[in-house]
Amino acid sequence: MSKTAVLAVVLVGILAVPTSAFLPTIIEKFWPQLQERMFGEVATISYTDLLNDNPSVDTPILNSMKTYGFFYVVDVPEYDASVELNYMNRFFDLPEDVKDELSIKKHNPDNQNAYRGYCPGLDDVEATLQYKNVFNIGPHETRGAYQEKNSALEKLRYDCVEANVWPNTEDCDFDKEFKETFQVGFEFRRNVARAAVRSISRALEYPILPSLFAEDEFSAMGLRRYPVRQQINTNMYSDFDGVLLRELEHVDSTVTVLSTFNNSGLQMLYKNQYRDAPVTGDNSFIVNIGKLVDDIIDNKMTSVRHRVVEVPFSRASITYFLGPAFDADISRSMTGHLTEAGHKYGIFGEWIKDYLGAIELFYY
Ligand SMILES: *[C@@H]1O[C@H](CO)[C@@H](O)[C@H](O)[C@H]1NC(C)=O
Repeated sequence: MSKTAVLAVVLVGILAVPTSAFLPTIIEKFWPQLQERMFGEVATISYTDLLNDNPSVDTPILNSMKTYGFFYVVDVPEYDASVELNYMNRFFDLPEDVKDELSIKKHNPDNQNAYRGYCPGLDDVEATLQYKNVFNIGPHETRGAYQEKNSALEKLRYDCVEANVWPNTEDCDFDKEFKETFQVGFEFRRNVARAAVRSISRALEYPILPSLFAEDEFSAMGLRRYPVRQQINTNMYSDFDGVLLRELEHVDSTVTVLSTFNNSGLQMLYKNQYRDAPVTGDNSFIVNIGKLVDDIIDNKMTSVRHRVVEVPFSRASITYFLGPAFDADISRSMTGHLTEAGHKYGIFGEWIKDYLGAIELFYY
C-alpha cells in the first residue's frame, strides 16, 4: 500500500469513530496532565484580596509556591501594562546620546549614578551572555548629604540609597509621564511583593518574616529590553537540554515580581522539564521567590529555576526585586538554622556589597 493509501485508511478509521462519545472521556482522562503541563494549576490571586490580607489567598499561594514556585497576581485595578510598555519602548528608542545622560557611571564617567539609571547591553558575541538594555529604578528620589562614614558598612549603607535618575528630553510631557508611570508601577510591585511576604508568613506561621522586609533600601525595578542578537552566541545553548537561550537558566535571590507583557519565551522548570509560563498580558504579574528567601523560610517553598528561550523579536520585560532590609539578619532561617548566605554574611547589607560588585563586573 502506498503512503497515501495508508493515510486514507487511517483517516477513515479516525473519522468513523463516534468522536462525540469519545472526546469527552479522552479530555477528562488527559485534562489533569494537560493542565499541569500548561501550568493551568498555578494560582491566580486577585490583587485586591492579596493587598487586603484576605486569608483566602494563603492556601492557594502556599500550594502554588510549594509545587511550582510561582503564582500570578491578577485584576490589578487601574493598572495597564500596555501603557508601561509604550513608555518603555519610547525610552529605549531615544537616541543613544540622550540615554547616555542617564547611563551608570561605568558607561559614562561623567555621571554619578552607580546603578540606578540606564545600562546599555553590548552585543559582544564572545563575551556577553547577558545582552540586554536595562533602565533601573529604585525607591529613592533623593539622598542625604554625605558625611564622613566611619566604617565600610556605614559607607555602604549610604551608597545603597542612590537617587533615581529620570529622562530629561526635549519632550517635557514624555519626561513627566514616564516618571509618573514608573513611580506608580514601582508602588504596584512593591505592594504585591510585600503582601506576598505577609501571605507566606501567615501560611507558614512565621509571624516575624514581614519585619525582615520592613525597609526596602535596595528594592529595584528593571525595565529590560533584550534586542535580537546579530549573531548566535554559542555560549547561550542550554547545558540542560541544548535549547538556544536569551537569558540563561537561573534561580533568583529575593522576592521577584515580573511582567512579561505579551512576550513568550519565559520557561519555568517543573518536574525536570522547562515549560512555557503564561504571559502576564495587560493586567497581571508573576510572583516568585529566590534562594536567599527560600532559605530564610526553611526551604518550605520552591525557588523556581527559570530561563528565557531565544525568540525572533526584541523582547521587553520588567523585573522587580524586593530584598530584605539592609539590617535584616539573613544568616538564620525562621527556625534558627544557618542559611547558605549565613556562611558568609550576617545582614542583608553585607550581601548587597558583593551583589553591587557583581553589577560593576557584569552590568545586571
Ligand atoms: C497584548 O495583546 C492584546 C491583543 O492583541 C492587546 O490588546 C494588548 O494591548 C497587548 N498588551 C500588551 C501589554 O502588550
